[in-house]
Amino acid sequence: MSAALIVGNWKMNLLAEEATLLAAQLVQRCATLKNSSVWIAPTLLSIPQVSAVVKGSKLLLGAQNIHWEKQGAFTGEVSAQMLQEFGVSFALIGHSERRHVFGESNELCAKRLGACLHSEITAIFCVGESLAQREGGATNSTLEAQLGAAIDSFADAQLSKLIIAYEPVWAIGTGKVAGALEINQAHGHIKSFWENRSKKSAPPILYGGSVNPENLKSILELPLVSGVLVGGASLSFDKFAKMIEIAEALA
Ligand code: PGA
Repeated sequence: MSAALIVGNWKMNLLAEEATLLAAQLVQRCATLKNSSVWIAPTLLSIPQVSAVVKGSKLLLGAQNIHWEKQGAFTGEVSAQMLQEFGVSFALIGHSERRHVFGESNELCAKRLGACLHSEITAIFCVGESLAQREGGATNSTLEAQLGAAIDSFADAQLSKLIIAYEPVWAIGTGKVAGALEINQAHGHIKSFWENRSKKSAPPILYGGSVNPENLKSILELPLVSGVLVGGASLSFDKFAKMIEIAEALA
């Protein structure tokens, strides 16, 4: 496989001091990276401090969400320009917690994607089915609706700087990781759907959902997996460092 991408999504965890400490440990760990890339997405409030720590290092800094307008009356939101001021180079979009807890629709997620496509920020566009959708045989149609809304909102030429993360909702934070067959099928479906719908070849696809040092190797060995999006296990330096070591050894 080519170099794996390991992304830590810190969600609403870690106070600024804790985030800064973890980032500093990771900067040190990543100084000698050869075969993998490591990205982290702290809370918005920690970004200025973490930004100062990761500046000039191999670690890339990301945001957990992004708004499509430059500025204006959008309480609680932050624009690409505001994030770029602090060295943010990627953003998560459509994470299942945004979709399910905060009710973000496919159309709204597509608008957020526009913020990335029109700026220097790389999008990690998250898709995935709930347990009910999987059990009801609606996995593929759910992925198609989520992806289709995004692809159809932009011209092919605009669809660059984009990464997809397949994160089955039932595997996020549950300790229940998707099996190789499920990951292969979903990634394969995302790739073929994308390539039928767009002239651009499919973006790299990450897997996310209960990834940890024990299951990482077998996930990264799957042919259509370009990396992983890690929640819980990215909050522990020891676990995340172990995962980086595994990715480095595999590539
Ligand atoms: P988890 O979260 O690794 O804690 O399951 C993954 C994610 O939400 O991106």
